[in-house]
Amino acid sequence: MIFTLMNKHTPVVELNIDVETAGILKVEQVIHPDFLPVGISIVNGIPDRKSLNDWWRGRSIPASRSGIRQALDILNISYTEQLLTKCYGLSLSDQYWINPKERPLKWENINFFRNTFSDDVGNALFGQFSSDKELDLHSPCNTSDGWLRKKWKIIDGERCLIKSGSNPFQQEPLNEVIATVLHRRLNSAAYVSYRLVWDDDIPYSVCKNIITPDTELVSAYSIYRSQKKRNHYSMYEHFLLCCEHLGIPGMKEFLNYLLAFDFLIANTDRHFGNFGAVRNVETLKWNGPAPIFDSGTSLWHDQVTRVIHPTGKISCQPFKPTHDEQISLAGNLDWIDFSALSDIDEEFRILLSASPYIDEPRADALCQGLKCRVNQLEQLALNHKH
Ligand SMILES: Nc1ncnc2c1ncn2[C@@H]1O[C@H](COP(=O)(O)OP(=O)(O)OP(=O)(O)O)[C@@H](O)[C@H]1O
Ligand SMILES: [Mg+2]
Repeated sequence: MIFTLMNKHTPVVELNIDVETAGILKVEQVIHPDFLPVGISIVNGIPDRKSLNDWWRGRSIPASRSGIRQALDILNISYTEQLLTKCYGLSLSDQYWINPKERPLKWENINFFRNTFSDDVGNALFGQFSSDKELDLHSPCNTSDGWLRKKWKIIDGERCLIKSGSNPFQQEPLNEVIATVLHRRLNSAAYVSYRLVWDDDIPYSVCKNIITPDTELVSAYSIYRSQKKRNHYSMYEHFLLCCEHLGIPGMKEFLNYLLAFDFLIANTDRHFGNFGAVRNVETLKWNGPAPIFDSGTSLWHDQVTRVIHPTGKISCQPFKPTHDEQISLAGNLDWIDFSALSDIDEEFRILLSASPYIDEPRADALCQGLKCRVNQLEQLALNHKH
């Protein structure tokens, strides 16, 4: 079936898409290539079909999403790519969508920023059956990324992302909240604020959408692929070079902050999908780095208490294998006000004590661990000075 790939109101390319498999069979016509997703390679003026397919299929819920089998059974769908066309590929993180050429639609009438949407898919993703009525599959949950259970929900008129943790400690939502506290104390300019909600004794983090109808979130992964990497450049250098080419302001300073922050929380999962930049979809001008989100995979969230070693080698992403190595890319650490962090462990303890999944020895180790990370970073800041 022929669709026009749209970036909000702008037609970008015409595509022949197999609705069942979500495969792009052919690029029919190129209309406004400037408005293509960042990182799509263009060969002789035509966007590369494989690259477009990777991007398009990558919009579907990853097959590794926790609880996806059960959700697909509830929705009576065989695989997540089939959900893409049910919502025209619309998302709450950008403005791309596919418009059927035969019966064109208007963005105003179908986008999820201004129109309400059903909770059916979100509920199925949380393992809940909706009533017997026919399910409404027009949902931004169809295009949500990441492996933790999550759903978009309209709460008091705001589009919010509700995200669960993982067994056995269900710690990720609590980590998102302590990360928010740390950002506030460190006076960070740009972070996503997470709060905690409990449902049936299970903790969830809730954050508001950071994207507006005029903007899109572009992953560091897409940015990284926008140029061919030369062998003599490191990943860090290549990424900054891509930002410079694209005209994204403020990325170096942002990374200085992000790397120090991830060192503090011993984040093991800052892959290229977990940070990025925000672009205006009408003017294609860059606002700058995206506010920091997804910091839950940190603070030994999946480690049993006995193996929590805050001074040990802690693996990290995306530029170096360990935090000890990666922190050297962050440059000067003078800007950190360590006095603002002096009692952070106490705030963490209060947060942890609310959770039935975290016993006292674990809470002790985690608080001690966080304090120890702060001390190590302070020591590094001092060494850097002398
Ligand atoms: N506040 C937000 N506003 C808009 N989009 C968001 C927001 N938070 C997350 N997203 C989008 O949703 C995706 C999934 O969210 P998130 O990274 O928090 O989930 P996750 O399951 O923890 O991911 P991972 O697989 O990296 O652990 C993000 O990669 C981003 O594209
Ligand atoms: Mg993520």
